[in-house]
Amino acid sequence: MSAETATSPTPVVVCNEDDLAVGEARRFDVGGHRLAVVRGHDCWFAINDECSHADFSLAEGDVDLDDCTIECWKHGSFFSLTTGAAETLPATRPVAAYPVVVKDGEVLVTIQTPNTGGAGGAS
Ligand code: FES
Repeated sequence: MSAETATSPTPVVVCNEDDLAVGEARRFDVGGHRLAVVRGHDCWFAINDECSHADFSLAEGDVDLDDCTIECWKHGSFFSLTTGAAETLPATRPVAAYPVVVKDGEVLVTIQTPNTGGAGGAS
């Protein structure tokens, strides 16, 4: 039978598809959340825009689309754009990753409640 949750997160528009170039990351503040949104070749990513090591913006770091990572500019930790996992030290904890869809030229991010994980990387 139905097992719908009582509060389904709603996708929110963060920008237009043309606002970011391929390989670009940018910070967006949406609903009290800081998001680092990244445009890939044929996909988009959204992760929490606060490094898990200290409060620095990940959107200001370098994007590597081949490895699907973004580097924290402060101390050099790499984070997965798809899962938010911290792949290198000094960060050890993940950041949240959020599902992204593009619809009619608009980029929409679904901001889920904490501890549900995320699944970034939608085309
Ligand atoms: S603040 Fe990001 S690795 Fe230290």
